Amino acid sequence: MAQATYEYFDLKPALTDMRSAVLAGMRAQQKHVSPMYFYDADGSDLFEQITELPEYYLTRTEIALFDQYSDAIAQRIGSNVCLVEYGSGSSRKIRKLLETARPAAYVPVDISGEHLQANARALHTDNPWLNVYPTCTDFTLPFDLPAAVADLPKAGFFPGSSIGNFEPSAAIELLRNIHVTLGQGAHLLIGVDRKKSVELLEAAYDDAAGVTAQFNLNLLGHLNESLDANFDLTKFTHRATYNAEVGAVQMHLISRCAQQVQVAGELFNFAEGEALHTENSFKYHPEEFLALAAQAGFAANAQWTDANDWYGVYLLTAQ
Ligand code: AVJ
Repeated sequence: MAQATYEYFDLKPALTDMRSAVLAGMRAQQKHVSPMYFYDADGSDLFEQITELPEYYLTRTEIALFDQYSDAIAQRIGSNVCLVEYGSGSSRKIRKLLETARPAAYVPVDISGEHLQANARALHTDNPWLNVYPTCTDFTLPFDLPAAVADLPKAGFFPGSSIGNFEPSAAIELLRNIHVTLGQGAHLLIGVDRKKSVELLEAAYDDAAGVTAQFNLNLLGHLNESLDANFDLTKFTHRATYNAEVGAVQMHLISRCAQQVQVAGELFNFAEGEALHTENSFKYHPEEFLALAAQAGFAANAQWTDANDWYGVYLLTAQ
């Protein structure tokens, strides 16, 4: 067998300007900052800690499902497939599937080229038989896959309930774009958190050890560092509530007092108790998620859940 290939593709994604994006959110009636700004070095570290928390059932439940059903998944996506992972850095989640499905190629896709290359290199080192083509691009948009995988059947992999950060309309648009990139007949393996009791949902986002509170507050630290802001982290508190109307856990930072904050040279007033919205994490009943996927042209091929019905893994087919 020929030596497997490692080749990096930089599609040069247009980076959103953090300064203008954050300022626009801070000027809004309901102040908000995108959850993408959680993930500076400290925030990424804190997120890793979150995935180990007793209350945060999502990561361990999803990994158990991928591992338990890897044979069934492999059988359905077939061998000799090109596996396209949306968002890199979760090689722990794909490891078992790589062993069972033995794909012909693996294309991890991420907007952060450095992390992408480090993770993809490590994965190629551990799986030298596998062709690895890391592709740096904005995966919310359609993009060209490497020419070397053009004739292979495609299977997308979108773990972590990351789709939950998108408003349902944006989630549909993203799934449509995945459909465009992977093409008709492709599979999409996606993990999506399910609706469940308010107590369990809120505990998962407001853990006893206070790690999620730190994660939320660290967003302000990131703005201080990157945008020359002067948020006093002791003057905000973490709040995570499940909004049943919206169908999402919503995270906010609540101002403990009336205060003025500077961000990139602009002044902003917070009233005592005013909320800065930082994240929506949408939760779906299986039928809700499949209806959403259908609007993007994906049909249900198979679905799996854990014994508690807490988490959903879906295998979709592009119609
Ligand atoms: C990475 C978006 C899936 O919504 O559960 C964890 C992020 N926020 N705790 C989620 C998160 C607070 C996480 N996602």
